[in-house]
Amino acid sequence: MRIVILSKGAKNYSTRRLKEEALKRGHTVRVVNYAKCFVTLENGNTQVHYKGKEVRGVDAVIPRIATNLTRYGSSIVRQFETQNVFTATTSISIVRSRDKLRSIQLLAKAGVGIPKTVFARETADFKGVLEQVGGVPVIIKVVRGTHGNGVVLAETPKAALAVMQAFYVEGVNFLVQEFIKESAGVDIRAFVVDGKVVASMIRQSLDDDFRSNLHQGGEGISVELTPKERRTAERASKAMGLSICGVDMMRSNRGPLVLEVNASPGFSVEQVTGSNVAEEVIKYVEHAAVTRRDKDKVGA
Ligand SMILES: Nc1ncnc2c1ncn2[C@@H]1O[C@H](COP(=O)(O)OP(=O)(O)O)[C@@H](O)[C@H]1O
Ligand SMILES: [Mg+2]
Repeated sequence: MRIVILSKGAKNYSTRRLKEEALKRGHTVRVVNYAKCFVTLENGNTQVHYKGKEVRGVDAVIPRIATNLTRYGSSIVRQFETQNVFTATTSISIVRSRDKLRSIQLLAKAGVGIPKTVFARETADFKGVLEQVGGVPVIIKVVRGTHGNGVVLAETPKAALAVMQAFYVEGVNFLVQEFIKESAGVDIRAFVVDGKVVASMIRQSLDDDFRSNLHQGGEGISVELTPKERRTAERASKAMGLSICGVDMMRSNRGPLVLEVNASPGFSVEQVTGSNVAEEVIKYVEHAAVTRRDKDKVGA
């Protein structure tokens, strides 16, 4: 197959691994920096251009869209979709996953365990909001944050109010969430391919940070999931319409709770677990492209 990896970082670990495994399996691979692509549109004729030429004859696209370029990146993915090119992750599912509120709404609807969450704008009924999530400490998160940036732990009602007001004044949408104390600083990343968990790790904050993101200095350790955790991750993948994704969960007293579902999960889980995730992704692309399993069924 002729595979295009849409990635800004040809040298980053995930992109390199995907390319390597695709080549090993006999495919032609090109890494295209979507940030430097442009699209031309006219009646009945659309083209994606990169490095002075049209990108043509593509059988499958594997998007690796950065969160800060979600709009532009997903538009390039959509362009390939309109040209009937198979995409491992659909543009709509990328856009959906980058909105924490929208994601939580879909997960809740599908009956996937999530921390109790309130979406509020003004802080008029500030007390009511805090009560709903069990009082302080509470987590307040920006709807479009990533890598742990924009996630705040407010330990007193005063602090919570100040944070909400700051976000409100800046016009930033936020969620207020129950703080899962029992596993603070630890979460699980389950890497899902073709709707099945293929690798999983625990991420642990190395200092007193309640956030376990590797970007915040967290450390990964290989872990075997319980059947319930596995099922939860797989249901989250389905609810979000993401056959390939990274599901972040916390081990709470009432079972696994999903925090978020990442549409372009990093492959560093390979280095932690020793599993070949990139190969699984390429295998998925091989058969899904033939059976055209890229139709979105989420409907929201
Ligand atoms: N409700 C919560 N209770 C306890 N810790 C949380 C909660 N929500 C997030 N965290 C911690 O903060 C980290 C970042 O939160 P997350 O929702 O995944 O945002 P991001 O998209 O920035 O990674 C999580 O990995 C987890 O360690
Ligand atoms: Mg996260």
